[in-house]
Amino acid sequence: GSTEGIVIAIDGPSGSGKSSTSRGVAKARDLRYLDTGAMYRALTWWMLDNGVDVDDPAAVAAAVERPVITMGTDPKAPTVSVDGRDVAAEIRGKDVTGSVSAVSAVPEARELLVRTQREVIAAARAESTGIVVEGRDITTVVAPDAPVKLFLTASPEARAQRRSREVRSSDVAATQADLARRDKLDSSRTHSPLTQTADATELDTTGLTLDEVVALVVKLADEVRDRQ
Ligand code: DC
Repeated sequence: GSTEGIVIAIDGPSGSGKSSTSRGVAKARDLRYLDTGAMYRALTWWMLDNGVDVDDPAAVAAAVERPVITMGTDPKAPTVSVDGRDVAAEIRGKDVTGSVSAVSAVPEARELLVRTQREVIAAARAESTGIVVEGRDITTVVAPDAPVKLFLTASPEARAQRRSREVRSSDVAATQADLARRDKLDSSRTHSPLTQTADATELDTTGLTLDEVVALVVKLADEVRDRQ
């Protein structure tokens, strides 16, 4: 079936299964897919590459308009580029991962990227294609009116195991400690912290396979569409 024009907003911490789930749902229902975390990572990559001190919020704020970040929203082959350069590999590196919380805490960085994210959503809807958008503030700030809003969770152990597999690390304990550190930063920042609201459906993915989670979300989206 089709899910024309629908916006599916998915928030949650890293390792909750957000990215794989969002891509899987977009593929299953022919929707566009936007990974907003990749946008914060791309901006962070540019800051590091251009010698901006990411621990100086004023320096970050002064530079946010300089890079042009472009997202390709095909869920089968999503792309992220900065000033025309493909940075998909670079943004998953240790340097970016270690600095992205600092950059994403800067209000000017968030304002700019939220504006871009809303433009991508509007463009997808204008061609009556729906979109799955994932991040930390999608259900609360970027698309609070989305008809489908989800908050994905998983136990700290399950999240660390998934994340370790992603980054091919065998040190699950170190990964769990790093996740806890980033959770704390992402949830305690003043501007748009990761927050779970009552109107988002919580989905605990611990012990579920990816296919099971995708099937649950697709079912929910189909129900919403049928009611519209
Ligand atoms: O999902 P991820 O790990 O790629 O996200 C990278 C960082 O960006 C993470 O530390 C939180 C931040 N982020 C955010 O602040 N707001 C979003 N909508 C998405 C990500």
